[in-house]
Amino acid sequence: MISNVNNILLEIKDKCSIVDVIGSFIKLKRTGQNYQGLCPFHVEKTPSFSVNEKKGLYHCFGCGVGGDVINFIMRYQNVDFLEALEMLATKYGINLDKSNDSLNNYKNLYNIHNSFAKLAYETLYSKVGVKALEYLQTRGLNKNLIEMFMLGYISHEQDFSKVLAQYDTKTIKDSGIFIIKNGSYVSRFNGRIIIPIRNKIGKVIAFSGRSIGGEQPKYINSPETSIFKKREILFNMDKAKADTNLLFLVEGYFDVMALYNNGFTPAVCTMGTSLSSDHVKILKNYFKEVLLVFDGDNAGRKAAIRALDIFIQGDFIPYVTYLPDNEDPDSFLQKKGPLAFAEYINRKDDLLLSIVKSQYLNARNNINERVSIIEKFKKFLEDIKNPYRRSLYIKEISKICEIDESFLLKTIELNKSKPIITRKSSGILRYICEKDFLGSLFELSEDLVQSLLIDLDENYFNDDDMKKIYKKIIENLKKGININDLVRDNEVGDIVSSIRMNSDDKQDYYITAIKNKNKLIYNYLNKKKKKILLALNSAINEEERKSILESLNQLISKQKKLYIHLLEE
Ligand code: UTP
Ligand code: MN
Repeated sequence: MISNVNNILLEIKDKCSIVDVIGSFIKLKRTGQNYQGLCPFHVEKTPSFSVNEKKGLYHCFGCGVGGDVINFIMRYQNVDFLEALEMLATKYGINLDKSNDSLNNYKNLYNIHNSFAKLAYETLYSKVGVKALEYLQTRGLNKNLIEMFMLGYISHEQDFSKVLAQYDTKTIKDSGIFIIKNGSYVSRFNGRIIIPIRNKIGKVIAFSGRSIGGEQPKYINSPETSIFKKREILFNMDKAKADTNLLFLVEGYFDVMALYNNGFTPAVCTMGTSLSSDHVKILKNYFKEVLLVFDGDNAGRKAAIRALDIFIQGDFIPYVTYLPDNEDPDSFLQKKGPLAFAEYINRKDDLLLSIVKSQYLNARNNINERVSIIEKFKKFLEDIKNPYRRSLYIKEISKICEIDESFLLKTIELNKSKPIITRKSSGILRYICEKDFLGSLFELSEDLVQSLLIDLDENYFNDDDMKKIYKKIIENLKKGININDLVRDNEVGDIVSSIRMNSDDKQDYYITAIKNKNKLIYNYLNKKKKKILLALNSAINEEERKSILESLNQLISKQKKLYIHLLEE
């Protein structure tokens, strides 16, 4: 399937000019190699949005977004990959339908989900759906809400023949909706309320089934498929994204629906999985502020701490509010109503500060505990990337922890381990060689890329973003996916585009790759050397010392050889 789509991608990229496409939406002006204009993805007065015809990429130096022509259409027109492909194909006269099965498979997957959702909706309002409908009513969901979320029901005796007749076996299998029982297809959601899960443009891509008679498990979700990735999907994102101010992030589907029922919008939840870095990135892109609503019990507090870590890594810190013990938004609203809920919204606090406060208060009389809490939050502070945000949090946390602000500031290590070979680049990336190395890979043939990567692993990368990109490159190579597709990757796409846009296209990329690879190895050996020296200190006997010294010698001679290469540059 992938290689087929790849051919279409290549054909589109061959025939269409990214400058033409983007230029038809925003005004571009030629400046040297690039075209520039006002970024359509953030508000700006002077142009920092650049398009490079030769590389087929765009990048905004203001807000950091970037990618290729397909991903521009996806972002700008708010459509999915397939739709963007179709729009461009139509515009450039490339025939999609006759050309391949794989795109049709994609379409069929969306269609079968749609058919199943319709079947479930109809069944809910048929005779066999009476009990299910009653169940939804006892949970406070009226016809309006049911329609808004397109809820449905699938009975134990459901007849699927009409749906199955419309699709080929591959689609039926790939959809993840059905399992084979006694030689025929049955849905995995039989006897359950059906909650359709939509992607951000509103297409049904999966389902969750809620049991109504107490059967376990309470919810059954679709397995992951080529159109459904749990770490990227937030339930109800299609509706939530219409309103970008304050988003409620809750734990369950019924919590989301109860909030809409009571006028608290927008709201989303994950697929019952914990929050991922992809989720945080999506939230950060769409919403000004996020409010986590947790149960006030221990599990809720723990979930908040887990979430904090992911949010800090994403450089986005939400608010939090805790409901009384054992209440979720749905149960609370049912019992106490919207006015009482509004009070809890008013009590919202910054997630990081609220966690520092509660942990510090608990440890008030114990110096040891206080020290360990300060040390723990010091690590969080080091992880905050935006320098202004970090500075403001240092101020607040020093107040809470009753410690001198300038002293706390001094102990924060912003440069944890200093590598030997670096060039300063306005302090943003200290490991320039890692960026230059990976950047050149995107310009080389796959054989060369494979040969350059063969003796490396992720430990050679110190910068977190570069490590991620490295891992994704390896993943793509394994799956046979073109590594240039990473310009559209949810997590690293913007960074990859910026690296590619910034690389000088007159250089010899292979030589750049080799030179920077040597630097990578040099830095890596250096790290290893430090470890060996530590081991040497704690060697227990002469024999062990000898063998450690031996490996140290080998390492130093390797480093020396490399150093000579590096000097030759
Ligand atoms: P909860 O157990 O808190 O259920 O799971 P809930 O949301 O309050 O559900 P109701 O109100 O009893 O209907 C929270 C979320 O975890 C996932 C679902 O996404 C659910 O909304 N979950 C839970 C599952 O995926 N499977 C399960 O069996 C249970
Ligand atoms: Mn609940």
